Amino acid sequence: MKKLLSGVKPTGIPTLGNYLGAMKQFAQLQSEMPDCEFLFFVADEHALTTPQNPKELKQNIKNVAALYLACGLKEENLTLFIQSEVPSHIQLSGIFESISYIGELERMTQYKEKKKKQIDGVSSALFTYPVLMAADILLYDVDYVPVGEDQKQHLELCKIIANRFNNRFGETFTIPQGITPKIGARIMDLQEPTKKMDKSSIDSKGCIYLLEPVSSAKKKIKSAVTDSESIVKYDKTNKPGISNLMSIYSSITNFSYKKIEKLYQGKGYGDFKSDLAELVGNELKEIQTKYQEIISSEQLNIILNKGRERANFLGNKKIAKVYKKVGLGR
Ligand code: TYM
Repeated sequence: MKKLLSGVKPTGIPTLGNYLGAMKQFAQLQSEMPDCEFLFFVADEHALTTPQNPKELKQNIKNVAALYLACGLKEENLTLFIQSEVPSHIQLSGIFESISYIGELERMTQYKEKKKKQIDGVSSALFTYPVLMAADILLYDVDYVPVGEDQKQHLELCKIIANRFNNRFGETFTIPQGITPKIGARIMDLQEPTKKMDKSSIDSKGCIYLLEPVSSAKKKIKSAVTDSESIVKYDKTNKPGISNLMSIYSSITNFSYKKIEKLYQGKGYGDFKSDLAELVGNELKEIQTKYQEIISSEQLNIILNKGRERANFLGNKKIAKVYKKVGLGR
């Protein structure tokens, strides 16, 4: 049976970017691949790479777990778990630290960007973040890893680490394949459309959170930054604002950019933004209704307990193999 895995960091409430770039396609892939095991986890150890308020972190962990299900994941073939409840992630990342190089970690774009934003110093965990991410993936010998565009570089490093280990210690890890959606893999900030929409950003006007009031989300769409031309046309370089909104529109409706351009020919940005606000509002409403049912149910705990058991079973088996290969223990 093939396996697919992905993770979301509980550093805040997931955004429309997380949804369109990753979480929305998780459910789609699950219905398209009935013979595949789906492993999804809340990457809470990754959250600790930047300072977190413990109380908020706990709540965010629960929210992310519930949102996976609210975005449409079904229980069949699903292993949903919390990273910190499966110690083999950290165990494997410890081994990988010894075969990862400072130079390759220094080249990671996300590290370079995040480093600039740290007020009280840069944690060593932020630096070794991609090593833990490689462990998350390789621990389960997964075939596919669906992620947004910003994680592609980390995924490439993961493959390098896997190949390096296999070459040094003998065939041990499956080399995974990344899956990114054609549209929506990089949703930009609504106020600064040259910057990625990010759940950890301080200014929230450019960011739509999956659990925010629908009216507030609609307002954000309507006040999104666009150019003065008022022609609905996809041109990422010269018209980043409207192009970003078009990618959100296209990702929700599956309409091509050409079709959207035709639909709004002769109309201004006002009509387009109103329609898009409705589309996003309806999408959020559906997610929030499901989220409310899940967050207060015992079912979430049952699913997470089952997930913890399965992930620990797979993880422990793999870690024993890896320890043997590298010569650890008695
Ligand atoms: P995180 O929590 O930052 O993001 C979760 C997923 O959402 C995608 N994403 C976006 N897609 C489109 N537009 C955006 N603006 C946008 N922002 C985020 C991300 O690409 C990601 O797929 N390192 C990961 C979590 C992780 C992981 C893993 C993922 C830890 N271990 C192993 C896959 C496999 C992260 O920070 O995701």
